Amino acid sequence: MVKLSDVNAKLLKAHYAVRGKIVIRAQELEGQGRKVIYCNIGNPQALKQRPITFVRQVLSLLEYPALMDAPGMDKLFPADVMARARMILEKNPTGTGAYTQSAGIPFIRQAVADFIARRDGIPADPNRVLLTDGASKGVQAVFTLLTNKPNDGYMIPIPQYPLYSATIDLYGARQVNYFLDEKNNWQLNEHELERSLAEGRANGVNPVAIAVINPGNPTGAVLSKENIRMIIRFARANKLAILADEVYQENVYGAGLKFHSFAQVMHELGEKEVTLFSFHSVSKGFLGECGHRGGYLEIRNMSDEVYAEMIKLQSIGLCSNTDGQIVTYLMVDPPKPGDESWPLYEKERNAILGDLKEKAEILGRGLSEIEGMHTHIPQGAMYAFVRFDLPHPKGIDPETMSADERHKYEAARDSKYCLRLLEDTGICVVPGSGFGQQPGTLHFRTTFLPPKADILALVEKMKRFHAAYVEKIKSAV
Ligand SMILES: Cc1ncc(COP(=O)(O)O)c(C=O)c1O
Repeated sequence: MVKLSDVNAKLLKAHYAVRGKIVIRAQELEGQGRKVIYCNIGNPQALKQRPITFVRQVLSLLEYPALMDAPGMDKLFPADVMARARMILEKNPTGTGAYTQSAGIPFIRQAVADFIARRDGIPADPNRVLLTDGASKGVQAVFTLLTNKPNDGYMIPIPQYPLYSATIDLYGARQVNYFLDEKNNWQLNEHELERSLAEGRANGVNPVAIAVINPGNPTGAVLSKENIRMIIRFARANKLAILADEVYQENVYGAGLKFHSFAQVMHELGEKEVTLFSFHSVSKGFLGECGHRGGYLEIRNMSDEVYAEMIKLQSIGLCSNTDGQIVTYLMVDPPKPGDESWPLYEKERNAILGDLKEKAEILGRGLSEIEGMHTHIPQGAMYAFVRFDLPHPKGIDPETMSADERHKYEAARDSKYCLRLLEDTGICVVPGSGFGQQPGTLHFRTTFLPPKADILALVEKMKRFHAAYVEKIKSAV
């Protein structure tokens, strides 16, 4: 039998907080009949978000094409859905059960390029688009491509989505942290990037790329165009590739805010040197089709010979799953005004995005009014990264601890807090240490995906819990 000591040490080292100890405990409590409000993960359909009808109608016809010719189907499905399914089957006659080309079905790659061109008003090349099993697999493909020497490293945001730190550990690469500026709505700061790069180099790291998440997970921030320009200039000056994680591009709620893609800003700057990898996914936005594992990776500034290696890499895994490719297609080429399915599609999309915006406001406003909690109304994505204050227990002074002791003490404090919160209130959030945070600060990440009634209940429960928790620390001897 394989023993733990036989297991790849890199896997043992990797850590993925979003599905860690606290979630396991939440499942146990639920098994015992307790109501749990799951705010730990951006998995919309697990939290009662309904799938978009158009997507499921097209998929069901493609999964069982005989339906298309069954009597009465034209009454059950809108004409454009039937036409769309027939068109997909015509372009991909082997159906959903066959492997596809490694990079993905060609007409879908073309549709992705058209989507980018429409979204950004820039040219896009289908021969630099790869269809992937969700954005996660796209990110990991880029890590495989770029991680070459033992000291190769990646600059990643702190706080970050733990896919990045975990993949760095898995691939035996080096992690170079740059802190996001909490006081400036979690934007990136040029001095901090310079500091982080210098520190990485001083530690013997050879930074090969910088990862940026926009809109941010866990921060909920939307980067300004100026900030993106600065990052591109920084990458150019320091010969770094850019990994632009743009899976939340449809999730922008802040008034007057707009999503700017790295591709568009790079095009505007006329940047021809920096290699850009941009990721998108069917899991987020208003589709929330996490289980279908679809997404794409678009690459700019890459030679044909390097791109051929990317294709080879994809071919080692044969191809991404076909349903995921189709959902990606339906995401980038949705119904249009005039199509029979358009009114329902638009109604469902607006309802989901409107609901998320409202819940972001309830959560952000509600939590920021709690004494000892600090957060903004999330501008985008599906999360708030909430800072909270706790007194130190009597007799404990972190100033007297070593950096390592302090790190452990702080990580234990936010984990303990989140576990207690779960036990006392049934609210499941993720400790800030799972994403990284400035030393000396405490955070948790919560989604605002659960139904509105649960978000309202969450704010009330948090208020009572936090006050009681602080009191308990103060009164302990
Ligand atoms: C920033 C970010 N990138 C990537 C992913 C992974 O998405 P996918 O389901 O497409 O693999 C997530 C999932 O939560 C995410 O938050």
